Amino acid sequence: MSISVLGISGSPHRHGNTETLLDSFLDGAKTTGAEIEKVVLKDLDYAPCRGCNACHKSGECVVRDDAIVLFDKVLKCDCLAIASPIYTMGITAELKGFIDRGQFLWARKFIFKTLYFTDDHIRRHKGLFISTAGQNWDHVFDGAFPAITAIFNGTGFEYYDNIIANNMDEYKGIRNHPTALKEAFEKGQNVVALLEKMQKDAAQPA
Ligand SMILES: Cc1cc2nc3c(=O)[nH]c(=O)nc-3n(C[C@H](O)[C@H](O)[C@H](O)COP(=O)(O)O)c2cc1C
Repeated sequence: MSISVLGISGSPHRHGNTETLLDSFLDGAKTTGAEIEKVVLKDLDYAPCRGCNACHKSGECVVRDDAIVLFDKVLKCDCLAIASPIYTMGITAELKGFIDRGQFLWARKFIFKTLYFTDDHIRRHKGLFISTAGQNWDHVFDGAFPAITAIFNGTGFEYYDNIIANNMDEYKGIRNHPTALKEAFEKGQNVVALLEKMQKDAAQPA
């Protein structure tokens, strides 16, 4: 079975720095034989979490919109690439709004205990964070990492790697960055090759 890679673009700016970096990663994954899908949050119809806590009583979200459909896809893919530019030292509103809607999964894990990911499942599901930022400051991505860690933990992915490029203001765009697009392409190839190998090894008789 081929490896499925889902890319989620959290940038409101179509085909900007961050989505371009995500595309390069997905292209690399595709050349290695993965089945890829890209979802652009800006084009979806979903509301922020209401904080109604109905999911704490049922394990289901009462708001039946595109966020629920996307969480279904997240739970089915082998590799999840989440992309967001840095907006005001963190992730975009589009991405944070989506991540918050995963509260029903938190309820299933910690209240109902109906959702559980084995260590082997987590090892075989890789999550990558893809981001760009304007500033030339090494710590500019730090504010984004906790929410990305939370969604990978909540959906059963090992937080495998980051593909991040800062200093976009000076480079005047990701296409002028000396290494980022190539790095993203190669990381797409490498993670799919690794997951394929893990799948083959698991299918071998002991
Ligand atoms: C509303 C807004 C807030 C931003 N905040 C930051 C910031 O806090 N730090 C930073 O380094 N860059 C910041 N930037 C710059 C973007 O992170 C940068 O231009 C990025 O590459 C844009 O990616 P995109 O083309 O995918 O939108 C901000 C840009 C916008 C539009």
